[in-house]
Amino acid sequence: MKTVTVKANSKTYPVLIGNGIMDECGNLTKNITATRYAAIITDDIVDGLYSARLISSLNKAGFKTVKYVIQNGEHSKNTENYVKILEFLAESGLTRSDIVIALGGGVVGDIAGFAAASYLRGVHFIQVPTTLLACVDSSVGGKTGINLKKGKNLAGAFYQPDLVVCDPLLLSTLPENIFSDGCAEVIKYAVIRDKSLFELLKLPIKPHIEEIIARCVKIKSSIVEADEYDTWERQILNFGHTFGHAIEKCSGYAVSHGSAVAIGMAIMALAAADKGICEKDCPAEIINMVKSYGLPYKTDYSADALFDVLLADKKRLGETITLVVPQRIGECILKKVPVSEVKDFLYSAMKG
Ligand SMILES: NC(=O)c1ccc[n+]([C@@H]2O[C@H](COP(=O)([O-])OP(=O)(O)OC[C@H]3O[C@@H](n4cnc5c(N)ncnc54)[C@H](O)[C@@H]3O)[C@@H](O)[C@H]2O)c1
Repeated sequence: MKTVTVKANSKTYPVLIGNGIMDECGNLTKNITATRYAAIITDDIVDGLYSARLISSLNKAGFKTVKYVIQNGEHSKNTENYVKILEFLAESGLTRSDIVIALGGGVVGDIAGFAAASYLRGVHFIQVPTTLLACVDSSVGGKTGINLKKGKNLAGAFYQPDLVVCDPLLLSTLPENIFSDGCAEVIKYAVIRDKSLFELLKLPIKPHIEEIIARCVKIKSSIVEADEYDTWERQILNFGHTFGHAIEKCSGYAVSHGSAVAIGMAIMALAAADKGICEKDCPAEIINMVKSYGLPYKTDYSADALFDVLLADKKRLGETITLVVPQRIGECILKKVPVSEVKDFLYSAMKG
């Protein structure tokens, strides 16, 4: 088992990563609070796969549990389900000493985390991530939230969990496309901070998955420790996401998040090379890497179409956008540019 300790300003907590650790959840949860009552929030797919094991482990450790199941998918991360979860916690008589446990991917983690942050102004919270994206990204760092009609993640709270229990064996049931989506975030970590991780990713990933998750979580925790509330350094985690979000939006979210981030990373690297900011072979290295994980690296949307989507977001983003620009594999910089200059980056990358 590997442990990464996250020392955020608001809370210090362990991320435990180990095959089979899911069955230790009960004993691990005992260390969080003296009470023995936990509310599990999950989605319908994960519920059928893993709830029984989690409940059995909690029951063995003396916990009484209740469970709330949402439908799987991004559409469930909404205000209606958020309120339903709060009402469920109240009806179940959860007190401030009790625990909310998120069992699932980023959707479950985000909505359950926001409920845990706001119910009784904050109750204990544990993340049990079941997708690769949730293991390496959403379960760590304390961003919780839901979508509003106007857009994704528009309501939420910074609320760190007390514990993250990450069992890589749970990823064995993930459909390949959802696993690949998570790989885009893993590649992102390597490009922003860790050249040796990038080299490791050239080997088959699954035999090293525990090690790879731990390295990604270490990178994320160091960034969160420097800037928990996302005022500057944390924006480095958005590598590939600015253009990625534009691609997702253009497609009406038909292009998955991981695919969009993969294309976004390639576009940004090509632009950076064209402008002489990054090493010449950096774009090819990134493109070959995303291709080897079955992820796309280019889009049919034009630079104009993507820029229009970014412009539509201008009101929310402000007059400037902070771009995450690679210099070489393992090193990226933040570059604050006027929105109009972003067009230049898109054209540099997509002129061919
Ligand atoms: N809070 C953060 O810092 C942060 C960071 C990145 C992304 N996110 C959010 O995460 C969400 C995306 O998360 P995601 O990619 O995990 O998607 P998800 O939670 O929708 O899960 C994807 C699908 O996989 C299924 N699934 C989950 N675990 C499984 C398993 N072990 N076996 C089989 N099927 C399984 C789910 O039921 C779902 O259908 C988005 O809402 C995004 O905004 C949050």
